[in-house]
Amino acid sequence: MTLTPTSYDIRPFVPGDEGGWVRCRTLAFLATQYYDDVKPRRGELDTPSIGLGAADALGHVVGVLDIEVAGTEATIDTIAVHPDHQGHGLATSLLEVALAALAETRVTTLDAWTREDVAANEWYRRNGFQERYRYLHVYLSDGDDSSGFLAPKPLSKPHAAFAHSRIDDEIELRSRYQRVHVCRQYVRDLR
Ligand SMILES: CC(C)(COP(=O)(O)OP(=O)(O)OC[C@H]1O[C@@H](n2cnc3c(N)ncnc32)[C@H](O)[C@@H]1OP(=O)(O)O)[C@@H](O)C(=O)NCCC(=O)NCCS
Repeated sequence: MTLTPTSYDIRPFVPGDEGGWVRCRTLAFLATQYYDDVKPRRGELDTPSIGLGAADALGHVVGVLDIEVAGTEATIDTIAVHPDHQGHGLATSLLEVALAALAETRVTTLDAWTREDVAANEWYRRNGFQERYRYLHVYLSDGDDSSGFLAPKPLSKPHAAFAHSRIDDEIELRSRYQRVHVCRQYVRDLR
C-alpha cells in the first residue's frame, strides 16, 4: 500500500492520545541525536498553543506536532513522525495544518531548535525555515575528563553533565568531550 498524507487523520491532540504521543515521540527520537531526551508524558501546553496528532488507519498516533505560542512568536516544541511512517509527507502535512491555525492569530514568526540530524535540518530548510543562530550542547559522559566539574555538598563530583557553550568553542570542546552537538535555531517568517 502506498501511504500519502491523505492516509492519515490529522486533528487536534486529545487526552486519549497521550500514550501514542509518548510512543511516537520516543521511537522517532531514538534514531536521532536526541536519543536520550525521553519524555514519559506530554504535559499540558498553555492556551493558545497548538497540539496536533496524526492517526493511521487503525487510529494509532504516528505523528505529533506541538507548537507553543507566546504573543507574536511561536516555537515548535515537538515534531515527530513514527519511523515506520517517515518520508510520506506527514510532518509537512502537520505543519500545513498548524500554519493555517497560526494564520488566524497574531503570530508573525515560527521557530524551532534542533541538533545535527540530516532529516530534521533538511526538513526545516525544505519547509521555508532559515538558520538564525547556532550554539553547542555539551555532555560530560563516561570516559571524559571531569576536571573542573563540581557539585554542592553533600553530593559527589558529577558523573554526567549537560551544558551549553558558544559555537566559537567547538573545536576545543570536541577535543575534550565525546558528545558535542551543534544546536541550530531555525526561523520561518509568517508575515
Ligand atoms: C524530521 C521528521 C519530523 C520528518 O518527518 P517526515 O514525515 O518524514 O517528513 P516529510 O515527509 O514531511 O518531509 C520530507 C522532507 O523532509 C526532508 N527529509 C525527511 N527525511 C529525510 C532524510 N532521512 N534525509 C534527508 N532529508 C529528509 C527532505 O527535505 C524531504 O523532502 P523530499 O521528500 O522532497 O526530499 C522525521 O524525520 C522525524 O520524526 N525525525 C525524528 C524527530 C526529529 O528529529 N524532530 C525534529 C527535531 S527536534
